Amino acid sequence: MEILLEIKNLMVFFENALALNDLSLEIPTNEIVGVLGSNSAGKTTLMNTVSGLIIDMKKKEDRRGGERINVLGEIRFEGEDITNIKPSERVKRGIVLSRERHPIFKDSDVLENLKIAGYLRKGKEIKEGIDFAFNLFPALPELKKRKAGLLSGGEQQMLSIGMALVAKPRLLLMDEPLLGLSPFLQAKLAKSIKGILEQGITVLVTEQFARPLIPVIHRGYVIENGMLVFSGTREELSDNPEVKSAYLGV
Ligand SMILES: Nc1ncnc2c1ncn2[C@@H]1O[C@H](COP(=O)(O)OP(=O)(O)OP(=O)(O)O)[C@@H](O)[C@H]1O
Ligand SMILES: [Mg+2]
Repeated sequence: MEILLEIKNLMVFFENALALNDLSLEIPTNEIVGVLGSNSAGKTTLMNTVSGLIIDMKKKEDRRGGERINVLGEIRFEGEDITNIKPSERVKRGIVLSRERHPIFKDSDVLENLKIAGYLRKGKEIKEGIDFAFNLFPALPELKKRKAGLLSGGEQQMLSIGMALVAKPRLLLMDEPLLGLSPFLQAKLAKSIKGILEQGITVLVTEQFARPLIPVIHRGYVIENGMLVFSGTREELSDNPEVKSAYLGV
């Protein structure tokens, strides 16, 4: 099994508070891996650390003289140490984050947003990326000319994921993509995540209530208070009584 992303002994401190505590995870190439955790478990911090956004947050805080952010441990992508490289360089290497409530350019229309998202790519690749996003979310092409700020929550979520896809990820990071969607849309999006995998994109996805995701993930990690408390294949997760009651609502 080839490992695309390896997280080793990751610790993230906000001042003296430990948001991630000695976390080690492996994300195999061409799998969908879930990270399950309740509120403030550390899901977003993990995504920000893998995407490198935490480096920008830290710089900003250091400049302001605000709280101290510290990251310890190691992140390796395709065998290379990327712990200290900046977010835009990680995007170029193929690590792309689709954030929950991603900052979308609200006054630009859907198509313009998708084009902006491809700024690091060539024209032809942008077009391919947009076609791929439109294929995956057939509701999007009809909204091409709609201002992003006027989209519903679910439509914005699709646009946000579409934007990440235009950047042509090798590893797509999705932070709670199902949040706020109806059960119908959740099931649809879970299927789309499978479609993303079929395009050769490895997916790391966080979720709090993971039932709709279970059918599509290969394996999952459960974190509580920034610590790893359980890891296993989809079957192992869905057979574990504690995981079932805490994250699957059964
Ligand atoms: N910028 C910050 N400054 C201080 N503490 C922070 C900061 N960001 C996160 N934290 C703390 O780190 C812990 C993990 O937060 P994080 O946002 O990663 O959790 P989460 O699993 O994404 O939660 P949610 O389900 O609510 O989105 C929390 O205790 C949170 O208060
Ligand atoms: Mg979060």
